[in-house]
Amino acid sequence: MESTAGRWWAPGRVNLIGEHTDYNEGFVLPLALPLGMTCTAAVRPDGLVRLRSRQAPCDAIDATTIALGTAGWSELPAWTHYPLGVIREFERRGHQVPGVEIDLDSTVPIGAGLSSSAALSCAVAIALRDLFAPTVSAAEIIDIARTAENVYVGVPTGILDQSASMLCTAGHVLFLDTRDSAYEQIPFDLDRFDLSLLVFDTGSPHHLMDGEYALRRAECAAAAEQLGVGFLRDITDSALVDRLADPLLRRRARHVVTENARVLRIAEQLRAGADPRVIGPILTAGHASLRDDYDVSAPPLDTAVAAAVAHGAHGARMTGGGFGGSVIALVDSERADRVDAAVREAFASKNFDAPRTFTVTPVAGAHRLS
Ligand code: GLA
Repeated sequence: MESTAGRWWAPGRVNLIGEHTDYNEGFVLPLALPLGMTCTAAVRPDGLVRLRSRQAPCDAIDATTIALGTAGWSELPAWTHYPLGVIREFERRGHQVPGVEIDLDSTVPIGAGLSSSAALSCAVAIALRDLFAPTVSAAEIIDIARTAENVYVGVPTGILDQSASMLCTAGHVLFLDTRDSAYEQIPFDLDRFDLSLLVFDTGSPHHLMDGEYALRRAECAAAAEQLGVGFLRDITDSALVDRLADPLLRRRARHVVTENARVLRIAEQLRAGADPRVIGPILTAGHASLRDDYDVSAPPLDTAVAAAVAHGAHGARMTGGGFGGSVIALVDSERADRVDAAVREAFASKNFDAPRTFTVTPVAGAHRLS
């Protein structure tokens, strides 16, 4: 019998390394968080879409009922553009969505750089797939969710977040080549080595929509063109970057080229079963590159990284798009409390709001709950 209702879940992510590489056709290495979006959905026979979110501001908690296919989204709360964009994309690709009731409830902090939006889009997309278009593949879901964000929300993101939410598996990091979408699950068993991965949500919101993200994309495209390649991924020798006359473009390109090399090094070490402590300094070098060459860090992120490393973290870096958001730190489990306390003290001394700290282990990607 065809399914007419159910519950689905899709996770947020942290990216272990490989930041701002995806739109340069480079490499990324994310893991899925045990924080995610639950989407309860049911078919509606009346051609209407009804959306509800437990996290929406008060005036939007009541059901928003709109006729499918109507214009006028701008009057609806911004979060509704993600599910509506996903519905539109299903329809544009020839999958009819006759009407649906969607209730959303998320545990991913919003604006923390942990992919709350991909969790939302992917949870809705797998619900629509199971209700209306069971033949749609995971690759197509990733494309639908990404297009929803690019076209209907207007943020020109790459494919990192949606791929992580859909493809990650428990106990692994996802090594993804964004050029051809080939991927590999690499074991990331921190327990075995008495290690923990801490996530500090600094509470300083990251704004991908304010134009800086799009500007970085444009700078990378300009650098690639001047270097005579299609994408910065094609440059593997960082010395070639020095041919760029503009010092700003040189810094941007250097970040991308060295970051791809860092992803490859870490993937190689984890694949070989090395003690993950060895990747620590590479993580911290990645942060310096994002801060100094790519200019996407922010004082709370730098403060968290510096305090974590000074108090014994093997490595730490901002994760996600930047301009605020979250930091990850790789620590000996027995030191986790001390590192957490040190970051809190550093924040207090600079009058930053206290961060929220999570200890995370990689979980499985998007799936149906019931
Ligand atoms: C955001 C985007 C991703 C990626 C990261 C930076 O999370 O959604 O596509 O570009 O920034 O690595």
